[in-house]
Amino acid sequence: MLPRGLSLHPGFLANLAALSSSYALSHVLKRPLVWGNPISIMIEPISRCNLQCPLCPIGARELKRDLGVMSLENYVRILDNVGRYVKVIALWNQGEPTINDQLPEMISEATKRGIYTMVSTNGNLLHRRNLIPRLLDAGLSELIFSIDGLTPDSYKIYRIGGNLDVVIENLRETRRLRDARGSKTPRLIMQWLPMKHNQHEIPYLRAKAKEWGADSVEIKTTQVYTDDQASQYLPDLEELRRYERKGQEWETKRTYQSCKRLWFSTMIDWNGNVVPCCFDKDEQFLMGNALTQDFRDIWHGERYNAFRTKLITKGRVEEMCRNCTEGLKSYYVPLDELEAMAPPEIPPVPPENLPKNADYSDIFELPVRD
Ligand SMILES: C[S@@+](CC[C@H](N)C(=O)[O-])C[C@H]1O[C@@H](n2cnc3c(N)ncnc32)[C@H](O)[C@@H]1O
Ligand code: SF4
Repeated sequence: MLPRGLSLHPGFLANLAALSSSYALSHVLKRPLVWGNPISIMIEPISRCNLQCPLCPIGARELKRDLGVMSLENYVRILDNVGRYVKVIALWNQGEPTINDQLPEMISEATKRGIYTMVSTNGNLLHRRNLIPRLLDAGLSELIFSIDGLTPDSYKIYRIGGNLDVVIENLRETRRLRDARGSKTPRLIMQWLPMKHNQHEIPYLRAKAKEWGADSVEIKTTQVYTDDQASQYLPDLEELRRYERKGQEWETKRTYQSCKRLWFSTMIDWNGNVVPCCFDKDEQFLMGNALTQDFRDIWHGERYNAFRTKLITKGRVEEMCRNCTEGLKSYYVPLDELEAMAPPEIPPVPPENLPKNADYSDIFELPVRD
């Protein structure tokens, strides 16, 4: 099987070859050439969330841009606009995608077009509105369950407002229904963010994921924005961090400085706004709008090319680019490597040293439709 959504169709391969060669040549000539169209996109079905994860901008209620919900109609317009070379869609950005009642129909539209679909969810709402069978019917390719604690106590430190028992039951039910259909999709992933308060759980990850019905565990290193967050949340094990300490600063560990995303992918927020990637949380680098403009004009437009030029010629001058995952050495940490390393048994952090939870007061009961 080819990795995530890749195709051997001649049109797809020609587009891929054009993108790859223009990416390489741009770095030689120090000016942006873009000879193809994005093959993967992120689309934000909604920018609201039921939880308050403290390091997530929407969870911490820190987003400054307008919040809202994408309609199915606008989603289809965007798909048609962005083009036929898209082979992978990640249906999330800021917010919880399962709150958008039309998420299954969005997936169906992509499945009809032969696109590999991925959803990342906190998993707390999947039992509502018959969502699990609807997602399976829609042909979802991959469902990522964000589970950052194997017990209710460690879970609720990051997933504030969530309920681990509900999430586990939803994961189990998805697996039950999938197996009953004799299907292998969606691939079910338990994604775990390593932090100080859960790092002692490493030895139990594989068994718990299996018990709850996941096909695999992905350990995604945790992003922080401030020194204070780094000292509160980053795990002690060096291998579990994407940052290294350089003097007084935390710096990301990278294998390369350039950015393939600016050639191969794009990010479209709930209102059609196009930004370079999911790290542009507040649309600081707005490239255009995929509901009101031809996407090719945006993709090849002045703003996108100015951004590409800056990256090629000056490097990671923007704060957003210095703290992103592109070129990261340890974006995902393979669980088998970690287990082979036999990390030392780490005792749980004593309660007085746990991060102080955010205020629970503005957790809202979600409307069934928005
Ligand atoms: C903003 S969330 C939106 C999707 C969904 N609400 C969820 O939590 O899965 C996008 C992804 O970021 C992950 N995430 C949350 N906080 C993070 C952090 N501090 N560092 C890295 N990834 C994080 C989530 O687990 C999820 O996979
Ligand atoms: S559940 Fe997802 S979107 Fe919601 S606050 Fe947590 S990480 Fe952010």
